[in-house]
Amino acid sequence: MRLLPAPSAQSLRLLFLFIFVMGVAPSPALTAGCPDRCVCDDQLVVQCAGQDLILFPNDLPLATRQLIISNNRIKELPALQLNYLSDLVYLDVSNNTLAEISESTFGNLRKLAYLDLSFNTMVQIEDRTFGPLSSLVMLRLTDNPGLSDIHSDAFSENLALQVLDVSRNNLTALNISTLIALPSLRSLGLSGNPWTCDCDTEDLCLWVLIEGFKFQVNKAVVLCWVGDPAMLQGLITAYRHINSFS
Ligand SMILES: *[C@@H]1O[C@H](CO)[C@@H](O)[C@H](O)[C@H]1NC(C)=O
Ligand SMILES: *[C@@H]1O[C@H](CO)[C@@H](O)[C@H](O)[C@H]1NC(C)=O
Ligand SMILES: *[C@@H]1O[C@H](CO)[C@@H](O)[C@H](O)[C@H]1NC(C)=O
Repeated sequence: MRLLPAPSAQSLRLLFLFIFVMGVAPSPALTAGCPDRCVCDDQLVVQCAGQDLILFPNDLPLATRQLIISNNRIKELPALQLNYLSDLVYLDVSNNTLAEISESTFGNLRKLAYLDLSFNTMVQIEDRTFGPLSSLVMLRLTDNPGLSDIHSDAFSENLALQVLDVSRNNLTALNISTLIALPSLRSLGLSGNPWTCDCDTEDLCLWVLIEGFKFQVNKAVVLCWVGDPAMLQGLITAYRHINSFS
């Protein structure tokens, strides 16, 4: 005795169509596989370093928490694909050929805590580029040899930022008026830039003197003071004094 009618050929075909449509997502970014030339583990880490990739990987698991695509030749971070990864906490894009990033690049990455953009070919960082990254704790932006311009408000919304490293770029000036206001910032890497210590950057030098105890007082800052030996001596004395109590 059959309680259920046998499925007709028509309904089987519909069912098949349904599974097929659901199984093959409309966008490559929505699939749950592991990208070619990458290794995905059950900790939601996707490792694609040094695979000679020229494009941002397709087929990333949506729940990816760490993405390592360093040591490739990726030119662009596509906002659409990247922003599907709303659980991303760690993103290493160091040592690629990224030339620009914009406000929309990181539009939806509200959990991102670590971002490494070192060893790329960026030339400028615009206003609000990192604006959506409200959980960002560490930003490494070193070794972009042509990077000569960082907008004064580039980091103004990154209230969780603790470590910012802009060493070894081509910066002659850095307007620190918004950095001063960041409540969590405790380390600022500045070395290896061709700082010019004229009136425009006087603010930078002055601030480091006052707040130097919070930061690694490094060569770049000392270079800024070479033009005025008395003030350089003042900085060193203040720094030693503060350190002798720490
Ligand atoms: C950048 O990646 C290339 C290719 O994997 C590698 O040969 C080179 O050593 C890397 N450079 C740095 C600074 O990591
Ligand atoms: C660094 O900036 C100067 C102008 O300030 C420019 O002449 C030079 O070409 C830049 N260096 C690189 C590697 O882009
Ligand atoms: C530094 O940035 C602040 C805030 O964006 C701005 O008001 C000020 O004019 C800037 N200073 C210089 C010297 O560009």
